[in-house]
Amino acid sequence: MSSLKVRVAKWSIGFLALSIAAVCTSANDAPAAGAPYQVKEGNKVDEKTLMGWKTWRALACERCHGAQQEGLVGPSLVESLKKLSKEDFHTTIMNGRPEKGMPPFNASKMVNDNWEGLYAYLKGRSDGKIQPGHLYPMD
Ligand code: HEC
Repeated sequence: MSSLKVRVAKWSIGFLALSIAAVCTSANDAPAAGAPYQVKEGNKVDEKTLMGWKTWRALACERCHGAQQEGLVGPSLVESLKKLSKEDFHTTIMNGRPEKGMPPFNASKMVNDNWEGLYAYLKGRSDGKIQPGHLYPMD
């Protein structure tokens, strides 16, 4: 084989590997049909989900549930949201479970206005579609 052919062959293999990687990543990126959030590239989300993340930050849920939602004194919400229904999520954050250390947030206007976004955000974290850390608006 001439060196040109070798180079072309190497290039094709490299390109093929990249294309496969691209297909896999994009498939992995896409939320399941009916997901309550939209996300691109792991950190660009729809407006409602972005407000949910801002609410998470503003109310400092991370004090007890961890900056990556994987639990501290409170349980891992990445795990909880695999089972907890949207309705039970709502009841829990509104009323809290004071006897178990989870405070009520029904007095917070931000939580009242954005609890569905908060649910969407945590669901995206639980599904592994939304990355931990800073989020940005989708363009
Ligand atoms: C002072 C600590 C603390 C803070 C702050 C806190 N939590 Fe919790 N949370 C807990 C504890 C402890 C539990 C577990 C209660 C139990 O055992 O049932 C819990 C439970 C939960 C659950 C239910 C999990 C399950 O599996 O049933 C959700 C959802 C939740 N918290 C969301 C939030 C959100 C959202 C915020 C911020 C708005 C927040 N928490 C702030 C301590 C906290």
